[in-house]
Amino acid sequence: MNKIKKVVIPVAGKGTRFLPITKTISKTLLPIIDAPVIQYLLEEAIKAKIKDALIIIGYNQNDVINYFNTESTYVKNLNRDYEEIKYIKKLKSQIRISYVFQEEAKGLGDAIYHAKAFADGDDFAVMLGDDFVFSNGLKTYGIGSLCKLYEKKNDYYLGVKEVPVEATNKYGIVKPEKEVKDCFKISGIVEKPQDNPPSQMACVGRYILKNSIFSYLEKIKPGVGKELQLTDAIALALKKENVYASKFDGIRYDVGSKGGYVEAIISVARTRDDLGINIDEFLKKTMDN
Ligand code: G1P
Repeated sequence: MNKIKKVVIPVAGKGTRFLPITKTISKTLLPIIDAPVIQYLLEEAIKAKIKDALIIIGYNQNDVINYFNTESTYVKNLNRDYEEIKYIKKLKSQIRISYVFQEEAKGLGDAIYHAKAFADGDDFAVMLGDDFVFSNGLKTYGIGSLCKLYEKKNDYYLGVKEVPVEATNKYGIVKPEKEVKDCFKISGIVEKPQDNPPSQMACVGRYILKNSIFSYLEKIKPGVGKELQLTDAIALALKKENVYASKFDGIRYDVGSKGGYVEAIISVARTRDDLGINIDEFLKKTMDN
């Protein structure tokens, strides 16, 4: 059985839900305390033993490339070696980062199609930056949980989470073939169903895709939001391939929404002992006031 060694991370969205800050800073660089979301994604991929990452950016996103530049004038002008910079160097020695430009924001399906040369015939993982998975002390979490399943049987795996029925119109929703278990085969998938969702199991930004996805991406037409949807390509794949949906370990936060972003920061802060404050005591105090 093969193992997943490559991950594709599309970050070219405009981030309008986070205006005005996203006017000048890419959404994926918004910090969870002191490290950007994209850094947490790469750490998750490294824990999953993934060796190569392709970040798909828009033309105005040099800030993402600059973030990982450890030879910049800023770094050279620092008066000493900072652990935080050494850490980024270490991260880059564990996972090779490359970039590709998506000319226009034509949808997630189009973004993933830009990874065809990078995948070079291999199956690969996809991680979306709006979905932040907090390890909560676990060694294998998020994409790592799906990689483990793939190692046993080389098929498609979609990371899912149960969402309230009124939230199903925000996600790709899967149709379980039989009953829902931790990992279950699916017989359908719909992007952002407006009514009659096939279940409450939503795709939450972690995918293992087989290389055949590129042939399905070539066949799809613009779908929801007039965009080329990855979900529609997966729906085509389903006719010929085994596609499984699985819950994964770790706690998932929707950092594409302001509330989820704040929750993620609080969760991470609770595990940090270098902040000089006790978050639980602080929260209690604010509630008492
Ligand atoms: C994308 C996918 C959707 C998935 C979601 C997870 O939607 O198209 O199927 O459920 O990510 O975050 P977006 O949130 O980019 O509109």
